[in-house]
Amino acid sequence: METPVLDTLIKLMKEDRISFHTPGHKGKDTLIEWGRYIPHIDTTELEGTDNLLEPTGIIKKSQEMAAQVFGSKATYYGVNGSTGSIYIAMSTITNPGDKVLVERNCHKSVYNSLILNRLEPVYVYPNYNKKYNLFTGIRPKDIEEALKDHPDIKAVIITYPNYYGICSDIEAIEKIVHRHGKILMVDEAHGSHLNFSNKLPISSLKVGADIVIHSTHKTLPSFTQTSMLHVGSDRIDLDKLRDRFNLYTTTSPSYLFILSNEIAIAYMMDKGREDLDRNIREIDRTIELMNNMARVHVFTGDSEDNTIADIDRAKLLFRVHGITGTRLNRILSNDYGIDLEMADYYYGLALTSVMNTKEDYRELVNAIEDISQRIKEERIRELNIDLLRPDVCKNIYEAYYAEREIIDIKDSIGRISSGFIIPYPPGIPLIVPGERITLRIYDYIQYALENKLEILGLIGYNKDQIGVIK
Ligand SMILES: Cc1ncc(COP(=O)(O)O)c(C=O)c1O
Repeated sequence: METPVLDTLIKLMKEDRISFHTPGHKGKDTLIEWGRYIPHIDTTELEGTDNLLEPTGIIKKSQEMAAQVFGSKATYYGVNGSTGSIYIAMSTITNPGDKVLVERNCHKSVYNSLILNRLEPVYVYPNYNKKYNLFTGIRPKDIEEALKDHPDIKAVIITYPNYYGICSDIEAIEKIVHRHGKILMVDEAHGSHLNFSNKLPISSLKVGADIVIHSTHKTLPSFTQTSMLHVGSDRIDLDKLRDRFNLYTTTSPSYLFILSNEIAIAYMMDKGREDLDRNIREIDRTIELMNNMARVHVFTGDSEDNTIADIDRAKLLFRVHGITGTRLNRILSNDYGIDLEMADYYYGLALTSVMNTKEDYRELVNAIEDISQRIKEERIRELNIDLLRPDVCKNIYEAYYAEREIIDIKDSIGRISSGFIIPYPPGIPLIVPGERITLRIYDYIQYALENKLEILGLIGYNKDQIGVIK
């Protein structure tokens, strides 16, 4: 049999590409030479190896050490990414039918949890910064208002930092949520590294969040799929959490992932903090060099935008004027062997970690300088991004499970959507299951299609159909 995946991965490995994307180990060994131990350490529950689902031995000890490092009451290693840990957390802090406050631009796993747990969401919308074409923070006063309007909300779920590294005022949010006696869950998937430097935004565990999720693999040197769930307060029922952990976790959790969580933390406690400080110095230098180039702008904040409380400098968000972010991403990948974490219509995002080297930054700076001189400036349309707030006609889970039919978009006005429609940018759902498709929403879809924006959720070969409830 041919081995197309193996062949491609080996080819990429030989190209020695520069990684500004996940996983945070960037293809390098940390405390151990993984190649020497794999596949022997890919083991199972034996005498002495403990059991992630009911830990009493070495895994329990390792998780307790992790809890000490992060300052949590308890830490659990996840083997199905933050996605799995978010499922566990949300089913722990709610019961079916509960109301929760979520950010409209929360990750898919939070939406999935709404469906799985049959929850009723109330949405809080982030600010859209028109000057920089970016979603920035959540206004704490919007959370306060939502909690006053809906006193039966059980928990508030915040993403911090967001995918672009932008941090809302988590300290103000924590005070509001706890003053109202609610639970604060923070999807800190992009912030496992915050704990290890005081030059970075404060970690939400330090602020007093009740339950916090980390994608270890995104910003620490750990394997893809590794995550951590931290409990920050006594408001979380640990027996229920253990039960939900078992509900959502495979009965054969990978020891590579369990160990990789442990090694990543041990590395950070060993030489990782120093490396992180060095990394931040490299980033600061890179920002300075790039911001001195004509046409190049690295986003470092906007003093007029008070929804931005802080910015995670481990993420370099930049644009080259006259080139779309998606094209810039392609050029960097094809011509310079540099892979970014993501790109949208305007920006490219380089996700760094302690494993990036001085040379990586030098190559990035040289490539951006070369591109900004070599690639002609095109006219980039200013997109008119609007945050529509559709009417909710049916609960998201009812709509998701309802009988549906597929119809042409042009016939969908007035109907209730059975799925998500998400234009990129902004990557925030225009419509979720149970919301009514109006003329404005239809027009917005047409506008996005005309401007060749990617739209997730449209159906059919020509992407001109949509699912609606029968
Ligand atoms: C904000 C946020 N939360 C959760 C996740 C899910 O993380 P994972 O890929 O580790 O399952 C992601 C993934 O990109 C994310 O961006």
